[in-house]
Amino acid sequence: MAVREILRMGHPVLLQQAEPVIQFNTPELAQLLEDMHDTMIAANGAGLAAPQIGVSLQVVVFGVKDNPRYPDADQVPYTILINPLITPLKEEIEDGWEGCLSVPGLRGVVPRYSHIRYTGFDPQGTAIDRTVQGFHARVVQHECDHLIGVLYPMRMRDLRQLGYTSVLFPDRDELEDD
Ligand code: NI
Repeated sequence: MAVREILRMGHPVLLQQAEPVIQFNTPELAQLLEDMHDTMIAANGAGLAAPQIGVSLQVVVFGVKDNPRYPDADQVPYTILINPLITPLKEEIEDGWEGCLSVPGLRGVVPRYSHIRYTGFDPQGTAIDRTVQGFHARVVQHECDHLIGVLYPMRMRDLRQLGYTSVLFPDRDELEDD
């Protein structure tokens, strides 16, 4: 198990365009994926992108099952997604609260497409193709933004809706550790 340091907003790697993965099924990729999994679980994250641990590759992991940081969220199966591509399926935009392990202690309201299709590859290079909505769609859009150097505050339309988790949600003790 290797829990890696999570880079925080202000680190230049978080603003870079990540490179596509060229070779699948390699020991290096397996090690990266293991570290990303362990780091995400240790931080109670809903997802993690490789640039957040300093690796500028197009790799994201995500999954939500009884997550204390997102107690009201729908469940999302644990997924490894490489070289992802997102296609919005409707014009519809939904506002929702987001946090980010690279922006600890804060939450903000972010507009996201409500319905998307995403494609990409698993670690063996097998194609993934899913149509999703709601929180699942939000998590994928958030994580894939990390691959183009975008953090959620950069997507916000009203910065008055950015605040400290412990102030916005004082009754949610379990949310405070991000
Ligand atoms: Ni994030």
